Amino acid sequence: MLNVKTIAVIGAGQMGGGIAQVAAVSGFKVVVVDASAGALGRCQENHGKRLAREVEKGKLKQAEFEAAVSHLNYSGTLDDIKGADVIVEAIVEEAPVKRELFGRLAKMFTGSQILASNTSSISITEIAAAAHGASDRVVGMHFFNPVPVMKLVEVIKGLQTSDATVHRVIELAKAMGKTPIPANDRPGFVSNRVLMPLINEAFYAWMEGVAEPANLDEIMKLGCNFPMGPLRLADFIGLDTCLHIMHVLHRDLGDPKFRPCPLIRQLVAAGRLGDKTGRGVFDYSHPAK
Ligand SMILES: NC(=O)c1ccc[n+]([C@@H]2O[C@H](COP(=O)([O-])OP(=O)(O)OC[C@H]3O[C@@H](n4cnc5c(N)ncnc54)[C@H](O)[C@@H]3O)[C@@H](O)[C@H]2O)c1
Repeated sequence: MLNVKTIAVIGAGQMGGGIAQVAAVSGFKVVVVDASAGALGRCQENHGKRLAREVEKGKLKQAEFEAAVSHLNYSGTLDDIKGADVIVEAIVEEAPVKRELFGRLAKMFTGSQILASNTSSISITEIAAAAHGASDRVVGMHFFNPVPVMKLVEVIKGLQTSDATVHRVIELAKAMGKTPIPANDRPGFVSNRVLMPLINEAFYAWMEGVAEPANLDEIMKLGCNFPMGPLRLADFIGLDTCLHIMHVLHRDLGDPKFRPCPLIRQLVAAGRLGDKTGRGVFDYSHPAK
């Protein structure tokens, strides 16, 4: 039996916000934690707007909307997640920051709680090694963006992860209306091992003047039947996240074909992170654009 009542989501950004929303709509009590009060405020505001839109579209009944909103709690401190049965981490894609957090979580959660990471590329084995005494309960639970829409959850088993933990996460993903598919703990797993080099190559093609960004994206959309072009998708994911993933692939696979395109580095250095900052490859500061 799943035996999960409360889910703590750490990180209230685009992924954490989405995971929390889906968990709340699925009937779980949710506590969202973020180090930034601004991020927490935006997350709560987005939940209100997005859930209300679901009611307008007829996808959610008024009573379901009210139940979901009542399930959602927001906090700036880990002290408020003590009663959680599952912790889903969705903070910045930086291994040292995640390791530090999992070290703290392992001390806080000494029972049967699952410690899941939504990492896009970082080794679950490495994160689990930092969770002293709890490494068999650390697992990758990789949701996709936007979480309320995308069905897939890539489930990653680290070297130390127990089969029971994998089984529970698969059941949890199903209870959240998702389709869990297992993958092994290799850099980028399946999704970003394949997707991110494609995005990176699109930046190289742009940098080398093969086409302007809008034309490059349109060619890939119409030519490959992609719902959005790779540069638009990079903005949507977040250029900082793309760069972190490319660093992991490059470092951990050791192959120069994974070197991050200098243009991504430059945009990130300029603070042009994509949708989340209003500008990345494309400019979103003007709604008409
Ligand atoms: N963006 C995507 O498309 C996507 C898809 C799948 C997985 N992911 C992964 O999900 C994770 C989050 O990505 P995102 O796009 O939501 O990023 P984001 O930048 O939108 O949000 C990250 C949030 O984490 C918070 N944070 C950072 N360090 C923290 C800490 N120590 N404690 C508490 N909060 C902290 C930040 O304040 C921010 O609100 C990353 O590991 C990323 O690789 C992203």
